[in-house]
Amino acid sequence: MNEEAHVLVNDKDKVRTITWNRIEKKNALTQNMYGIAADALTDAENNNNIRVVVLTGTRECFTSGNDLNDFLDSPPDDEETPVARFLAVIARFKKPLIAAVNGPAIGVGTTMLLHCDLVVAADTTVFSLPFVKLGLCPEAASSYLLPLLAGHQRAAELLMLGDNFGAEMARDCGLVNRIGSEDEYQEMALDLAHKLAALPPNSVQTTKALLRNRHAAEIETAMATEFDKFASMLSSPEAIEAMTAFMERRTPDFSKF
Ligand code: COA
Repeated sequence: MNEEAHVLVNDKDKVRTITWNRIEKKNALTQNMYGIAADALTDAENNNNIRVVVLTGTRECFTSGNDLNDFLDSPPDDEETPVARFLAVIARFKKPLIAAVNGPAIGVGTTMLLHCDLVVAADTTVFSLPFVKLGLCPEAASSYLLPLLAGHQRAAELLMLGDNFGAEMARDCGLVNRIGSEDEYQEMALDLAHKLAALPPNSVQTTKALLRNRHAAEIETAMATEFDKFASMLSSPEAIEAMTAFMERRTPDFSKF
């Protein structure tokens, strides 16, 4: 498939929808996909015809997170890489950002939600922050934003154990606004998007800035600190064992570390 088609961008009535669309790999995100999404977001921010952006996935899946082959083959090593650019854009995005999620929402599939203003989840969504299980550490400022939302103990459970959790738990943690069925969740998110798009844009954006900006410096610091550690951990023996085990469809063996 043409790599452009791995991210679909669709504009309708002042709402831009960005869809992860790499179905055969459960929408795993490559550097190329992050780059396309970052460009679509930057364009939306500067485009007067767009007032709200919705991030979503396909019928089966939001995203299985960063492509693990990409992590092994071309690990992101500086802040100019597409993944770093994408995360910086969503962290500073001035217009409302809404996510409509379902199926697996793994790794960055969960951490990107921390930068959204409204999140609608299908009741079947499986969230996960498996960084430790992959020999890695939190990213996307999740080590700052998740405890802010959910408190230390819940953030520690989700980030240190890295187990799957469902839509109800995500709502209890403050990560999700609304839960709907598989047939409803996208429509629910689009309804919210169109509702926001009909409101006075300056007022909506000022309100978002007032809500978000007081954390801007901490988010930037957390993201930069995490990025440094994450980038160096990607080539660690623990991470290589974890990612190779996934590719080889076996249980990783951390007993030797
Ligand atoms: N990176 C690269 N490839 C991935 C991927 C990822 N994050 N997630 C899934 N894939 C690939 C699989 O390797 C498989 O490829 P193949 O058909 O060529 O063998 C294909 O997508 C389908 O995945 P599969 O594991 O067979 O589907 P599943 O329904 O059994 O499980 C997941 C779906 C998402 C639960 C599982 O694929 C998974 O755990 N993925 C890894 C998630 C992860 O650790 N992400 C990184 C977070 S930092």
